[in-house]
Amino acid sequence: MAGPPVVLGIESSCDETGAGLVRDGVLLGHAVASSMDEHARYGGVVPEIAARAHVHAMAPVVQEALDRAGLALTDIGAVAVTTGPGLSGALQVGLAAAKSYAFSLGVPLYGVHHLAGHVAAATLDGGPLPNPCIVLIVSGGHTSLLLVRDLARDPIVHLGDTLDDAAGECFDKVARILRLPYPGGPAIDRAARDGDPKAVRLPRPLSGPNDPRYAFSFSGLKTAAARWVEAQRAAGTEPHVPDAAAALQEAIADTLTRKAVRACTDHGIDTLVVVGGVAANSRIRALTERRCAAAGITLRVPALRLCTDNGAMVAAIGDLLVRSGARPAPMDISIDPSAPLEYAALTPLAAIRAA
Ligand code: KG4
Ligand code: ZN
Repeated sequence: MAGPPVVLGIESSCDETGAGLVRDGVLLGHAVASSMDEHARYGGVVPEIAARAHVHAMAPVVQEALDRAGLALTDIGAVAVTTGPGLSGALQVGLAAAKSYAFSLGVPLYGVHHLAGHVAAATLDGGPLPNPCIVLIVSGGHTSLLLVRDLARDPIVHLGDTLDDAAGECFDKVARILRLPYPGGPAIDRAARDGDPKAVRLPRPLSGPNDPRYAFSFSGLKTAAARWVEAQRAAGTEPHVPDAAAALQEAIADTLTRKAVRACTDHGIDTLVVVGGVAANSRIRALTERRCAAAGITLRVPALRLCTDNGAMVAAIGDLLVRSGARPAPMDISIDPSAPLEYAALTPLAAIRAA
């Protein structure tokens, strides 16, 4: 096949087993299996259950992605895999599978950062991202405002990160307090539809004039929501879940979007990219759209199904790395469960120096 190769992307950092196929910026097909239902009764992801589910789902998910793309295994020209951050047992399964595919097909392997995958998901809809752009990453484990230049080559600049909980964690924990099902984010989003966001007064953390401009903090907001729920229950009334959900969602959406738009205007950058599982939230999408339009900023948000974890995003960043001439990973590359987001590729520095 002439031109850039078909890149198989494999994602297994948490409870979704994803496989995607991307070639030259175009998504050819992808498939996702989730072990979410198996974790629901524990109220959160159980690492061993997630890892075992990845073992069962991996080969069928890769086959399903190939079927959807109308391709065969032998059409794959490169393999990209999330090597971190994430649950170590879960990451191990994905990496072992990726190594097996790459080795048996005789194609290069790329270890990629999960969050860079989330960012790359935004290229599958609207094409390449402008250089530079501001990126807001909001997932279950991370909340960061980034200045991104060439995603495949340049270091990623952190303008601000959360000082404590991630936005998704705040959704998930408050949902649990409200006795909503796991995962909490989508449950809060649904409940909030019938709620009044003004019915419960919740703080806007780190939003004062002397607070850091781009840093976030969600643990105080979570505590404020928990206190309100406790006070209701102590008074003998069950809290009004839709109102609490709407107020929490509004506080998170207001804080995130205000700081993201501020980062764009401060830096004179006219594109904002919002990615990660929490970018699926309907209020965050609507409020960012409104505030970006008012500030003359172009907003890029991946399609809903590409916001939460999937293999297409990993294939997308793999494709960008391949096309920018990045060096493949050595076959003995290992996982890095707490990898900081510095570069899109997670090839160990020692391997690059030795090459
Ligand atoms: O990116 P992701 O799928 O996995 C991680 O890398 O963490 O993000 C998962 C997070 C969870 O906290 C989940 O509750 C949240 O994304 N989430 C949402 C929505 N859909 C998923 N949060 C708010 N509203 C949603 N609609
Ligand atoms: Zn994720």
